[in-house]
Amino acid sequence: MVIFGAGGDLTRRKLIPAVYYLCRDRLVPEQFAVLGVDRRELDDEAFRERLDGGSREFIGAELDTANWQRMLQCVHFLPGDFTDPDMYQRLAGRLAELTEADGMAPNFLFYLATPPRFFAGISTQLDRAGLLEESGGNWRRVIIEKPFGNDLQSARDMNRQLHEAMDEHQIYRIDHYLGKETVQNILAFRFANSTIEPIWNRQYIDHVQITVSESIGVEGRGSYYDQSGALRDMIPNHLLAVLSIVAMEPSNSFNADAIRDEQTKVLRAIQPLSHDEVLTSSVRGQYGPGILADGTRVPGYREESEVAADSKTETYAALKLMIDSWRWAGVPFYLRTGKSLPGRFTEVVIQYKHGPNIMFRDSLLKREDVPPNTLVLRLQPNEGIGMNFNAKVPGHSTHLGTVQMNFRYDDYFDNAPTTGYETLLHDCMTGDATLFKRADNIEAGWELVDPVLEVWSALPVRDFPNYAAGTWGPTAGEQLLKRDGREWRACEACHTNVT
Ligand code: BG6
Repeated sequence: MVIFGAGGDLTRRKLIPAVYYLCRDRLVPEQFAVLGVDRRELDDEAFRERLDGGSREFIGAELDTANWQRMLQCVHFLPGDFTDPDMYQRLAGRLAELTEADGMAPNFLFYLATPPRFFAGISTQLDRAGLLEESGGNWRRVIIEKPFGNDLQSARDMNRQLHEAMDEHQIYRIDHYLGKETVQNILAFRFANSTIEPIWNRQYIDHVQITVSESIGVEGRGSYYDQSGALRDMIPNHLLAVLSIVAMEPSNSFNADAIRDEQTKVLRAIQPLSHDEVLTSSVRGQYGPGILADGTRVPGYREESEVAADSKTETYAALKLMIDSWRWAGVPFYLRTGKSLPGRFTEVVIQYKHGPNIMFRDSLLKREDVPPNTLVLRLQPNEGIGMNFNAKVPGHSTHLGTVQMNFRYDDYFDNAPTTGYETLLHDCMTGDATLFKRADNIEAGWELVDPVLEVWSALPVRDFPNYAAGTWGPTAGEQLLKRDGREWRACEACHTNVT
């Protein structure tokens, strides 16, 4: 495993801990090596010391010293500038040395833990150095992580450049949401339970909500975030990844391409928003100063470091999307995400339609007194699935109350993956691309987001900041559903639902 950008945060916080867990669980072969590449002038020993100091805290109490030391001995370092073609000759030489010395098969996983502007250049150089050539049954794979472009055109350009260096089957694009057990479990929930799938369609479902709410602000990532904004940062990747799993048709096998075909198909079935529709079906917001539920005062987005004092970048985005398919015709999918909201939670709400309630018509109830059933897939935290339904409140008269059936991961399983990255690394090493995004999927996501970006940049906002940190985003976000006679599900764990 070769890590470009080995001196960076991703390596220290995520990749090395993930490699540790894989080594500990004997999920990598005995002959396995990590080669870090970075500009720093380090040797193997100095790099190991650096990791020893920098990565331990991300494993915490679970760290087992013997396994940790064993893992560190597999780690090597090559100083070099990855824009320098000569470096790739040295890399090829070092890889030959390492593989020959330990009798390893020359299977290489290149992890590009670098800013995306280097993806194409590194791939081209790897190709020129012959390091991407798969022959004699050996594989060569490249992992990259979002952002995959910042609009449709740049995403297409990136895909084209990558394809000039290697085949699509060698590219593993990480969307870390697909690494989450709870996201993968949506497939199992839908397709391994015969009672769920028959009612997963427009006949029973009124609408779907997908929320990724974050209580943190931009946390020192101002220079990236101010260029990106909430829409680009979250929607074409994480929220559409969740949507595609919630809405896809069953594939006829668990084969990576069969599943990814279905995911892309459903993204392509979403009605692209016309420029006029963007005005009514999208909402953007930016937080100003505010007070969080615990009393902490939070500065406004424009006061964050490396953010322009008059920034027009959105920290909140919501969309209403419609899918043109027999399954979903007429069922809105409402998506929202934002920073500095009152709580951190990611959930999918499946709101079922009202029943006719004929039996209870004369006793006590208006239709609204009998809330429709709601299924909530809690992706994080408090991972699990809850179903709200109505029950008779014990007593002489007929009163109904809403109760909950609740599945919590903690009650059943104790082997949750520790970083999420180990699943993805292991899948890449074993050649299972199911949880990685394909080029067509990336482009299908940007096709949906592009019209929104176009309208938003053509019509600069005048009312930013338009929500206070610690509140649920701009009023327009509530209106998006209210106009349709609906509302966002209140967050149970967040103590407040005020805007
Ligand atoms: C990242 C975004 O991809 O996902 C961040 O760049 C965001 O802005 C993060 O905070 C959310 O991930 P998670 O796993 O904490 O929900």
